[in-house]
Order: sequence, then C-alpha cells, then structure tokens
Amino acid sequence: MYSLLRRALFAIEPERAHALTLSALQLASKCHLLPWRGSEPSEAISLMGLRFPNRIGLAAGFDKDGCSIDALGALGFGFIEVGTVTPLAQSGQPRPRLFRWPARAALINRMGFPNEGSAACACRLQQRRYRGICGVNIGKNAATLSVAAIDDYVTCYRLVAPHADYVAVNVSSPNTPGLRSLQQLEYLRPILEALIEERNAIRAASRRPIPLLLKVAPDLSNSELATIAQVLLDQRVDGLIATNTTIARPLSVSAGSDTRSPQAQAGGLSGAPLRPMVLQAIRSWRAALGADFPIIGVGGVASSDDAVAMLDAGADLIQIYTGLIYRGPSLVGAIRAGLKHR
Ligand SMILES: Cc1cc2nc3c(=O)[nH]c(=O)nc-3n(C[C@H](O)[C@H](O)[C@H](O)COP(=O)(O)O)c2cc1C
Repeated sequence: MYSLLRRALFAIEPERAHALTLSALQLASKCHLLPWRGSEPSEAISLMGLRFPNRIGLAAGFDKDGCSIDALGALGFGFIEVGTVTPLAQSGQPRPRLFRWPARAALINRMGFPNEGSAACACRLQQRRYRGICGVNIGKNAATLSVAAIDDYVTCYRLVAPHADYVAVNVSSPNTPGLRSLQQLEYLRPILEALIEERNAIRAASRRPIPLLLKVAPDLSNSELATIAQVLLDQRVDGLIATNTTIARPLSVSAGSDTRSPQAQAGGLSGAPLRPMVLQAIRSWRAALGADFPIIGVGGVASSDDAVAMLDAGADLIQIYTGLIYRGPSLVGAIRAGLKHR
C-alpha cells in the first residue's frame, strides 16, 4: 500500500511532499480516520524519570513546529520530538534544500531550521491531546553569533520546557553556520551549565523531571567525544541523542563531477549510509558514559533488525526519520513487533 503512495509522493518535490503528508495526517487525525495504535504495558520502559510507552520515537525535524503531534502520535510512536525551534521565527536556507537519494535509501538536507519560533511551538504543545512523551529540540537562530548562543538556548528553554516532557539541546545540525562549533568545550560547558540551572528550577517548581538531553553529531573525533562525555557526566545532563546527520559521504562511490547527483548536494546525510557510523558512535558513547547513562540512538533505522542492532550497540531508545520516508508508517509497528520479545 505504502509503495504506491510513495511512488506518488516521490513524484513531488521533497519538501512539498512532506508538507502534504503532514497536512493529510492532520486532516485524517481530525476526522478520526487514524486508528489509534496504543502500546502494551510490556513495551513500556522507564528512563530519565519518564515512562515511555514503547522504545520507538519520531526524530526531530519531521514536525518542526509541533503542528501534527496528535496525528503522529496515532501512528504508534512511544515518543515524539518536535523542533528544532529557535527563539525567533526564521525561514531557513533557500530552497531547494531537501534531496532524496533513493538508490541509497537516504536523504540529504540543508534546511537550516526553518521554524515559527519557540513561542508558537509552546502554544501548540499546550493544545496537544497526545498523551505519550513529547520532547522539544531547541537551537539558535542563524543570525546569532556563537558567543551569544547561550541566550538563544535559555530563551527557547524557558518558553518550551513548561510544556515539554524533555528538552533536547541541538548543537549538531550541519546547516546553521557555527552551530557544530558549540560542541567545543568553551561553548558547550556554559550552555549546559545555564540550562541545567533552568532545569533544576523548573523541576523543583513543577515536580516533573523534564530531562535535558544533548544531541550530537556523528562526525566527532575520539578525543572530542571523550571531552563531551566528561562534560555530560560532570554536569549531570540527563541523556544523549546520537546522532544528527553527517557531513561525511561514507560511501565508496564518488559523485565525481556530476553535480546533479544527490550526494553532491551540501548538507546532512541521513538514512541507510549513516547507520554504520551511528552504531560505532553509540558503542563509543556507551563505553565513555557507562552502562546507566540514557542514550537515544538515531540514524538509518529502517527495520526491526536495525533497531535491535542499535539497542545491542548500547542505545536505550530509538528514533526514526528517513526510514519513515522510505518504508512508511507501518515501520513503527514492524519495529515494535520485532522488539516485543527482547
Ligand atoms: C529533512 C530533515 C530535517 C531534519 N531536521 C532536524 C532538526 O531540525 N533538528 C535535529 O536535531 N535533527 C534534524 N534532523 C536529523 C534527524 O532528527 C536525525 O537525527 C537524522 O536524520 C538521522 O536519523 P535518520 O537516519 O533516521 O533520518 C533532520 C533530518 C532530516 C532528514
């Protein structure tokens, strides 16, 4: 069924196809046409003080403004991460900025955080009926200098945290100039320090855990990874999301001079070619952070076997994005079924 729909969607420009899909899902949800796929108690897992109905989540970037939380929730996800949102609305990079690479079951994007701003997202979070876990991924505006990034993160945090189950700090998207440099100690430590202070205050006032997670790139060196791991442990950050898209093109086939080839496009690569990098990264993060540190694995999961491999590498939870584009919504149920007897 989805293969037919996919053929139709893939005939449309990728970003437009995505917008159409979200609108159709919203409409179907409003008309109660989406069968609710609840989770069984045996699928639930407690982590970071939260109870996740199942281990499969929707990765950030799919529903950037939180417009479709209820509809996406009906697809059977145990958790949904909206965003990335920034303090001010911004339009992102010029189009085209999203490219399919069907031969590799991959996408390349250089969206650059188009979003309506944190306040708009906060309103939508308040209106959601979805009762699963809902996280919000926060970033900085493109115009904000790295030295001032801390204010952007704190502004976003204050707006969205009261309405979120967790907050993810995005310092790893490759499409906002300077964003990945925030993974360096001189920037990362003060940003996390400030957000942990905010988290502690809201945690005390609301009596909700509101865990704070860091989302990292797959392109870190071993020494960068070790440094960040120490900061996470020192500052008692609640969890890690590994990973964002890669700026590498980890394939033997080179694009050569063919600039029409999707892999010649600048931006972050996601989907199947990212999977081996992410599995290796998760093993390294698990070794560096210890057995109990919560890790959400994301990158190239497109089957229950992929999900099992990611859990075996050390992830506690899994998110998907590109797999959903290529395999359709039945992927959520397929992975959940595959994980039932673990
Ligand atoms: C079109 C697109 C937009 C994305 N936007 C964001 C974003 O705004 N924030 C973020 O943290 N990650 C974003 N991501 C990265 C995904 O959340 C995920 O980390 C990455 O795609 C790897 O997972 P996948 O291989 O299952 O897609 C985006 C990915 C894609 C394909």
